Amino acid sequence: MNGKHILLCVSGGIAVYKAAALTSKLKQAGAEVKVVMTESAQQFVTPITFQALSGQPVYTDTFDEKDPMKIAHIDIADWADLVIVAPATANMIAKMANGIGDDMVSTVLLAGTAPRWIAPAMNVHMHAHPAVQNNMNTLKSFGYRFIEPGEGYLACGYTGKGRLEEPEVIVALVADYFSEHQHKPLAGKKVIVTAGPTREAVDPVRFFTNRSTGKMGYAVAEAARDLGADVELISGPVTIEPPSGISITHVESAEEMFQAVMSSYDKSDIVVKTAAVADYRPKRVHDHKMKKQDGELSMELERTTDILKTLGEQKKHQFLIGFAAETDNVKTYAKRKLESKNADMIVANNVKQAGAGFGGDTNIITIFYRDGSHKEFDMMSKKEAAVHLLTEAIEQMGDGQ
Ligand code: CTP
Repeated sequence: MNGKHILLCVSGGIAVYKAAALTSKLKQAGAEVKVVMTESAQQFVTPITFQALSGQPVYTDTFDEKDPMKIAHIDIADWADLVIVAPATANMIAKMANGIGDDMVSTVLLAGTAPRWIAPAMNVHMHAHPAVQNNMNTLKSFGYRFIEPGEGYLACGYTGKGRLEEPEVIVALVADYFSEHQHKPLAGKKVIVTAGPTREAVDPVRFFTNRSTGKMGYAVAEAARDLGADVELISGPVTIEPPSGISITHVESAEEMFQAVMSSYDKSDIVVKTAAVADYRPKRVHDHKMKKQDGELSMELERTTDILKTLGEQKKHQFLIGFAAETDNVKTYAKRKLESKNADMIVANNVKQAGAGFGGDTNIITIFYRDGSHKEFDMMSKKEAAVHLLTEAIEQMGDGQ
């Protein structure tokens, strides 16, 4: 991490002493470290300790502008390659989740665009509190990464989850991050991934949906993140945990998914349409719960927008990857979808084949290309399949894109 700029934001908890050790270890590993402290953090350890360990001035006051040519909270946020909040208290997490900037640390955290990592430290019950969990989920949806607290004896006397991760572990994660970052074929690219099923409402209590679990789409989103992309995951209702480092938009219906995809389409470089989008929705959505009647019920369905087809029609520089989950004639249908949707690649699988269906952890994919060729892959984990399909896409895009 030689010469990398790390901004360490320290909020107030007993674990501040570990942040002092973290400062020292990051500096020893070659990073330049600047420290920002809240008023409460200074109750535990004085700024002078951090100044001595970092060899840099410590920032504590939004209005203490040392250089008239610069606005400190913007300047140091822009300076950072990585921002780490350690220890992150429940209060600081709440401020970040709600966009509050009422001191130097929270204001700096609103400025700049460097990735943010959050290392919480607090009492076990505070950490498990639904308000804190909600705030953490909000931050995950911004693409912030969490360094989960360890379990063990806590200064408050409890034993459990809440202990700030050890400085050595945080330094190792930072080192991994910077070394991985150096070979990132998708660095600077924006990738949209859609995942999961859609729900098409019948009335306030009923809907039509399908068997998609979102596993394949979430694996694609994570693989794209690991290859360096800026990922937006647009997800139908699933039960999978939101992945860290990925911005996530939750949608329900095909129409909501369509709107979400279209609003980011212009800025995107690759779109992976893993989602199992409903082709039809009830023509009439009842305001009240439908009551049963004697005899049969027929319901009129209307077509939803074909999102991939619309993307294909409006394509400029984007590389479009569609999925085709089939139960028969995989090759014929996949090739037809490639053409009719103007996609650049179709990833097909036979969902009736063992190891390739909905919900499992594996897939058996065949990729179809614009030149009429295709490549069959053996059964592999959905994570591996995701890496393969993105690697194929990178190859197809060539250097020009
Ligand atoms: N798709 C989409 N919008 C829809 C339906 C499908 O964007 N309304 C996308 C899917 O995300 C997938 C691809 O189109 O990437 C193929 O989806 P699939 O359901 O396999 O095919 P359909 O186009 O719906 O065709 P068919 O129902 O005839 O199989």
